[in-house]
Amino acid sequence: MISNLLSITTIILSVIMKAPQIIRIYNQKQTGGINLTSLLLDVINLSTTTCYNYINNYSLMSYMEYPIILFQQYILIGTVLFYNKYLNVKVLILSAMYIGLYSAFIFELLPSTILTILIPLGTPISLSSKCLQLYTIVKFKNADSISLTTWSISAYTNGARIYTILMDSVDKMLLTNFCLNATLSTSILLTSIYYKQTSTKRTL
Ligand SMILES: *[C@@H]1O[C@H](CO)[C@@H](O)[C@H](O)[C@H]1NC(C)=O
Ligand SMILES: *[C@@H]1O[C@H](CO)[C@@H](O)[C@H](O)[C@H]1NC(C)=O
Ligand SMILES: *[C@@H]1O[C@H](CO)[C@@H](O)[C@H](O)[C@H]1NC(C)=O
Repeated sequence: MISNLLSITTIILSVIMKAPQIIRIYNQKQTGGINLTSLLLDVINLSTTTCYNYINNYSLMSYMEYPIILFQQYILIGTVLFYNKYLNVKVLILSAMYIGLYSAFIFELLPSTILTILIPLGTPISLSSKCLQLYTIVKFKNADSISLTTWSISAYTNGARIYTILMDSVDKMLLTNFCLNATLSTSILLTSIYYKQTSTKRTL
């Protein structure tokens, strides 16, 4: 019962997860505290997961949140590139390479075994992405553009997964993955709250 409720809220919240972050950057017209590398790592993770599920003919319902988050992530990265005036030829070439690579997976021009090898890297990629984000906030003592809503949702969804796994499979690998992810998301959330408050004091 609680498991179902957590699963449903997780999917609903995932679907809108990045929107508050995009809106915040759009309103502020700057990206203080956000690490672009971290965003790109998330794209790799989300693209790989989406392609893997698609190639294996899994039902769309079982992985629908990944392409939806991926779509928001494109808009988010586009916004970050735009406000940093990074939209140049290099970015265009890299985007073309990215599209080419994942299209090759989708149309099975590349063997799907490569995706099977890449999938377990999802956990370290996702953890490095969060570490980079946390590091950037602490290094620049700046969380101005970080959306607390987005990171609250991230902490909630990872925390909810811990509960559903405990009730369901008690898979140690999955449990470790989501415990680490939940800890890092919560750390980013709390660090952001801290630096947002000190920055408010500074400007007063
Ligand atoms: C993101 O993190 C990497 C690695 O620490 C760093 O090289 C890069 O400058 C950071 N980007 C921003 C925008 O802080
Ligand atoms: C997925 O479906 C396509 C078309 O029906 C088929 O050619 C392919 O072998 C299937 N792949 C897997 C992994 O079942
Ligand atoms: C990265 O991939 C793993 C495994 O596919 C997944 O559990 C995790 O939620 C993904 N992380 C992000 C930030 O999308």
